[in-house]
Amino acid sequence: AMPGMDHGAHAGHDMAAMAGDAGGVTLPEGRPLPPLQRLVNRGGAGGVSGELVAAPIKLPLLPGRQPTTFWAYNGSVPGPLIEAYEGDTVEIAFTNRLAQPTTIHWHGMPVPAEQDGNPHDPVPPGASRHYRFTLPKGSAGTYWYHPHPHGYTGQQAYMGLAGTFIVRRRDDPLAHLPEQLLVLSDLKLDGDGSIAANSMADHHDGREGQFVLVNGALRPTLALAEGERQRWRLWNATSARILKIALPAHEVHLVGTDGGAIASPRRIEHLLLSPGERAELVVTGRFGAGQTPGLVALPYARGKAMHPEQDTVLPLMTLNRHGRRTSAPLPARLAEVPALPAPAVKRRVEFSENMADPKAMFLINGKTYDMARIDFEGKVGQVEEWEIVGNAHMDHPFHLHGTQFQVLARTEDGQWRDEPFLAWHDVVNVAAGESVRLRFRQDLPGLRMFHCHILEHEDQGMMGQLLVR
Ligand code: C2O
Ligand code: CU
Repeated sequence: AMPGMDHGAHAGHDMAAMAGDAGGVTLPEGRPLPPLQRLVNRGGAGGVSGELVAAPIKLPLLPGRQPTTFWAYNGSVPGPLIEAYEGDTVEIAFTNRLAQPTTIHWHGMPVPAEQDGNPHDPVPPGASRHYRFTLPKGSAGTYWYHPHPHGYTGQQAYMGLAGTFIVRRRDDPLAHLPEQLLVLSDLKLDGDGSIAANSMADHHDGREGQFVLVNGALRPTLALAEGERQRWRLWNATSARILKIALPAHEVHLVGTDGGAIASPRRIEHLLLSPGERAELVVTGRFGAGQTPGLVALPYARGKAMHPEQDTVLPLMTLNRHGRRTSAPLPARLAEVPALPAPAVKRRVEFSENMADPKAMFLINGKTYDMARIDFEGKVGQVEEWEIVGNAHMDHPFHLHGTQFQVLARTEDGQWRDEPFLAWHDVVNVAAGESVRLRFRQDLPGLRMFHCHILEHEDQGMMGQLLVR
């Protein structure tokens, strides 16, 4: 823990947040779930072609106060939803109207390295650039996009720059279900209603605000019928919160992860969604006799030193019972998820923290990020196995650019345990003291980042580079 910081001092503050009122700031709550805005698609012939502009905007957030300044894509927070099909070519004309350099990083998507919007490719203030990539077969999944300039990713994301991207497949066995898109984000406001800067605690633990929002709204409501099945896509777009998602009473099946469908639906009681991570669920309304808590985040301790741990149930969205419906059973098979073959290369990636050096607190293999350094060299098409070691006091969600990986095993009390099923991920939480073994193949050449997806840790250098030749 950081010396000189009183753990208890912040506890009251977080309790107030749960009432929708924090530090004198009250956010209206309980309106219907806002739909996501969509990108205007000018593309003919089945492709996607559109424009994204990053610029400051003012939104009336708090009744009776000055509007709040956000930084937004096309004036919308979250940014516009981009929808495409496997095989589509995506063309985005991007303009930066911010006062800082920025990029658009297509998080989790198999795009060429020079289109990845990584820190090597900043777009200066006032400048434009074109992003163009084709979505290969098998790329269907739930993605997002956000800025990735080195040192400013966290700020640009918490100011509002993040949008969703769905890649669909033509033969989707769940296409008949009504779909809900739920972007979970964190909002930290000052007393005057402006977006607050990071505190010491945010720099250390990762930023946490007073409010966790769904599609920009505090505890919105959604109608669900008894027995009705809905498909939900969830994005954890917070900087640092590890959300242990649950829907007490209702029937929940996991049907997809970051990189798309899993082999068959799996009944779950809760789901750990770390920063940057996504999931697809099928939710079946089971209200029984009474009211249910709706969508919540269960208590979860992530090893924070300065912010209090989340030790109460955090309500995220209210479910209103709306009649009764009978739904067809879920399909038994969703997709093929073949295991990757034995690796040609094995590597070890160790997360650690060094509180003694404020300039290099968050480390990968003992080092802080250097744009000029190649940490590993790999080959196109070669299977790699990485062991991510959480030699740390805090959880750090691991993220790799350019491809999806399969988690094979993780440690529990020092013992390796195989994962119960295979799935495609681009983020995996590595809890304090835990190790995670994963495999991947990079199908495209170029420089690929890997980093902790707590954005404040990434900005402080908890990032490395894999050069694929
Ligand atoms: Cu979502 Cu390298 O980031
Ligand atoms: Cu971290």
